[in-house]
Amino acid sequence: MLEVKKLSAGYGNIQILWDVSLKVNEGEIVALIGGNGAGKSTLVRTITGLLPANSGTVEFLGKSIDGLEPHKIAELGISHIPEGRKIFTDMSVMENLEMGAYPKNAWKNKKNTLKKVYEMFPRLKEREKQLARTFSGGEQQMLAMGRGLMSQPKLCIIDEPSNGLAPMVVMEVFEIIQSMRKQGITILLIEQNVKQTLEISDRAYVLENGRIVMEGDCATCLASEHIKKAYLGL
Ligand SMILES: Nc1ncnc2c1ncn2[C@@H]1O[C@H](COP(=O)(O)OP(=O)(O)O)[C@@H](O)[C@H]1O
Ligand SMILES: [Mg+2]
Repeated sequence: MLEVKKLSAGYGNIQILWDVSLKVNEGEIVALIGGNGAGKSTLVRTITGLLPANSGTVEFLGKSIDGLEPHKIAELGISHIPEGRKIFTDMSVMENLEMGAYPKNAWKNKKNTLKKVYEMFPRLKEREKQLARTFSGGEQQMLAMGRGLMSQPKLCIIDEPSNGLAPMVVMEVFEIIQSMRKQGITILLIEQNVKQTLEISDRAYVLENGRIVMEGDCATCLASEHIKKAYLGL
């Protein structure tokens, strides 16, 4: 579904990503793990068109999306659920969700999609008129994921959804991600919560200093000495 080939990108003269290649097949949850500053969000921004690539290509559903504007990429079916939630704090829950439905096709189905999102997140329905700024971190993450679903995506790229959340809430977030996959949405999950992420994903890539240093199925990654030492504190 998504194929990133030898992607390089950065900010001004500073190169952050070095020949990054990765694939996400339809129906998979693929994990991208790596520490702070590894370049994970830079990779997400390059895939979603927010940051231009210096070299390399990105294909989605067999077609190049290089150089397309972010809203065009969203219209093709990629939803970006950003790091730090980035919800619209002065808007109500419902307005936040509607903002996610701007891709043309999604707007037509807005009512139906909203109903489905409310079924997945009953708390959002209960509080649809409330300002998003009154929400806790976990609720804001649910709202960010609900908004991401409003575009009826084929692929969701979720950047550090568990960051800053209490363990119970992290479990809820990971359950939602699994239920998104059950509904047929393919997922690229960016995380620093390595153990839980590898437990719910199919395959993983490890990004360090802007380079992919390891890739494989999650069982293999969990058993790797490097992963154990560097990410699991074992
Ligand atoms: N807007 C920016 N301008 C300049 N440097 C940036 C910018 N955003 C991130 N960086 C730098 O790029 C590197 C990778 O950051 P980032 O992709 O956010 O890493 P991660 O998401 O893995 O924590 C870091 O060294 C960071 O300081
Ligand atoms: Mg990041």
